[in-house]
Amino acid sequence: MKNYIKADEWNIIEEGFDPHLNKVSESLFSIGNGRMGQRANFEEDYTGETLQGNYVAGVYYPDKTRVGWWKNGYPEYFAKVLNATNWIGLHIQIDGEILDLNTAEVSDFKRVLNMKEGTLSRQFIAKLNSGKIVKVEALRFCSIVDDEVAALHYRLTALNFEGQISIISFIDGDVKNQDANYDEKFWEEVAKKQEANTDYLVLRTKKTEFEVATVSQTTIFKNGSLQELKAVAKEKYLGQQASFTLSKNEVLDVYKLVANLSSQNYDKAALLRISKETILKAEEKGFEQLKQEQAVAWAKKWEEGDIVIEGDVAAQQAIRFNIFQLNQTYTGKDARLNIGPKGFTGEKYGGSTYWDTEAYCIPFYLSVAPQEVAKNLLVYRYKHLDRAIENAVKLGFNHGAALYPMVTMNGEECHNEWEITFEEIHRNGAIAFAIFNYIRYTGDERHLADYGLEVLIGIARFWKQRVNWSAERNKFVMLGVTGPNEYENNINNNWYTNKLAAWCLTYAMEAAEKVKAIAPEQYLKIVEKTNLNEFTEFRDWNSVASQMYYPFHEGENVFLQQDGYMDKEQILVKDLPADQRPLNQKWSWDRILRSCYIKQADVLQGMYFFEEEYDLETLKRNFNFYESRTVHESSLSPCVHSILAAKLNDEEKAYEFYLRTARLDLDDYNNDSEDGLHITSMAGTWMSVVEGFAGMRVRDGKLCFQPFLPKNWTGFSFTIGFRGLQLKVQINESELIIRNNSSESLELKVFEQLYTVSPGEKTIAYKGYLV
Ligand code: BGC
Repeated sequence: MKNYIKADEWNIIEEGFDPHLNKVSESLFSIGNGRMGQRANFEEDYTGETLQGNYVAGVYYPDKTRVGWWKNGYPEYFAKVLNATNWIGLHIQIDGEILDLNTAEVSDFKRVLNMKEGTLSRQFIAKLNSGKIVKVEALRFCSIVDDEVAALHYRLTALNFEGQISIISFIDGDVKNQDANYDEKFWEEVAKKQEANTDYLVLRTKKTEFEVATVSQTTIFKNGSLQELKAVAKEKYLGQQASFTLSKNEVLDVYKLVANLSSQNYDKAALLRISKETILKAEEKGFEQLKQEQAVAWAKKWEEGDIVIEGDVAAQQAIRFNIFQLNQTYTGKDARLNIGPKGFTGEKYGGSTYWDTEAYCIPFYLSVAPQEVAKNLLVYRYKHLDRAIENAVKLGFNHGAALYPMVTMNGEECHNEWEITFEEIHRNGAIAFAIFNYIRYTGDERHLADYGLEVLIGIARFWKQRVNWSAERNKFVMLGVTGPNEYENNINNNWYTNKLAAWCLTYAMEAAEKVKAIAPEQYLKIVEKTNLNEFTEFRDWNSVASQMYYPFHEGENVFLQQDGYMDKEQILVKDLPADQRPLNQKWSWDRILRSCYIKQADVLQGMYFFEEEYDLETLKRNFNFYESRTVHESSLSPCVHSILAAKLNDEEKAYEFYLRTARLDLDDYNNDSEDGLHITSMAGTWMSVVEGFAGMRVRDGKLCFQPFLPKNWTGFSFTIGFRGLQLKVQINESELIIRNNSSESLELKVFEQLYTVSPGEKTIAYKGYLV
């Protein structure tokens, strides 16, 4: 755990330069706009520890997997989002000495991520080995208005010398991924062109043949007067060089406008032409206007989805950081894109799509973004349905059974780990649950007719075929799975997976009935397209759903995570010596698999999804049992525990878990933020506040709240969109104040009591119950 980020409500601030923290900071201070993203690498050369990262959404490479014994059904490749052309580069020499913070003496270093306006700035003073001292102030951003455009301004002041400056503002496509399985380079050059102060570089990925055009337009001023530039070029590299004498207190300003365009959006033949148009439009606006527009656009994002916490700056900073990073990662403009667990902040997890999206991110986007955004995430899976069916065929299933991949870029399975990921078939259930969740929140039942039902039929068919009848138990069982708790592999009857499978089968049938009622013609088309035999298939689905086996432990009176779980030695987490943790870094895999320790919410994940089926006593027993065995070594875990603890009125625990998720990256809790941020778990942090502390749910089409105020706070508020209404919910120690910013009134429940909220504000008194 680290503690070097200064507390501030709107900014992430690092003061002082510690090279050991550099990779963590590169992740924390990342910027992005849904279309591209950039780690907080330095503009100038840096020979110290760094993880270079420039990513263009959706541009990936199918790296050959590394595997000992190849087995049928194993994915052909491990896809990764690529480190793409470095567009920030500035190579600066002062009387021949390179400006490099690894070799210079650095003081007054400060890095600020301004979350209100969406910019990253950095300043420092560097004393070179020659004794020459420079002051640098840099600012850059990825525009969320023109999302193919990024801009930077770099100002250098000579503090104590007169000297010869040489500066090259460059774009460099000769880059690698650190996680490449075979240390290969993935890009080849297609075209390059230099016109006046503008460089055009087009690169193509090997195998996948994506083309990305990076255009950079440089202007350099010395004390306000424009400098002449000389073009420099080598393979996959273009730059603009200026050389001049800088005297004491004179200032060098570099402005760089950049566009990154991908062949996913344009004809390859037109890439160069369109990139020119894009950069010319950016030039017309200019750096200042682009920056201003960025601030206005971010203000709107904050208006739609801010959380304000009163009385606790660290908590305020943390929640905004989480919301900011989520908005930088996914904007919902493009249904082909999704949310990689690390977003654009690192290479780990390859930038691929996981079940994280459906299980954790959907609730966030449902509330803080236009309805289309969450819908696009569902449509993404709809478009991958054929691939999910092909994937199931590869594993031996038939008749339209669909198994969605655990890790994917384009619908194909592309994970890199057989033993864990392969059997985590529970992801299929999360995809079905997300459809249910979306409709529960938005009321958009038409979605079932247009997209949802086909997906649900494929998923239901998979579960039907994946179970088998056990004569021994007189029930359907599910063998050889891995649940969300990845510290158990290849187990039988994971309670969560069995529960989810049975629910999916029932929900698919309900969805079919719904579509039949609201869109009968569409229903017939779906029946024909999917070759659905309502009579035999529904009979079979019913039979599995109603006769599923659920492991249960009589002695503890809890749902049992899987068959045989109680055979394990039951030493609770509180009795584990601190120096043994995290287990995944201290213990062998063999030892982890034999232990009772749970990586992340598993049974409790199911009780969270289907909470209405369980009374508080049942929830409490299971919560106490599993919480005491859970090590939370996945970032996705504490938020679920926080929400359930809040429901059980255990305010302290709810807050404790919340803190673990909210500052997970800012304080580098798991010592792994240098690999990239835990973007998908950030949505879980949002859930801890809204579903946990405010107790927000949607039931029967109505918003419901059961709030409490964490002790350290004096109040909190959040903004959500709900079925066309814009609402602000404010909670203090004894009141829930709801502001309805729309022209229609709204019915909602607080502690089960029904209220009508007309346009304007309404105050409802509460005290753990209504007063
Ligand atoms: C978790 C998975 C998750 C993945 C990506 C793993 O550590 O156990 O549930 O899907 O990370 O976030």
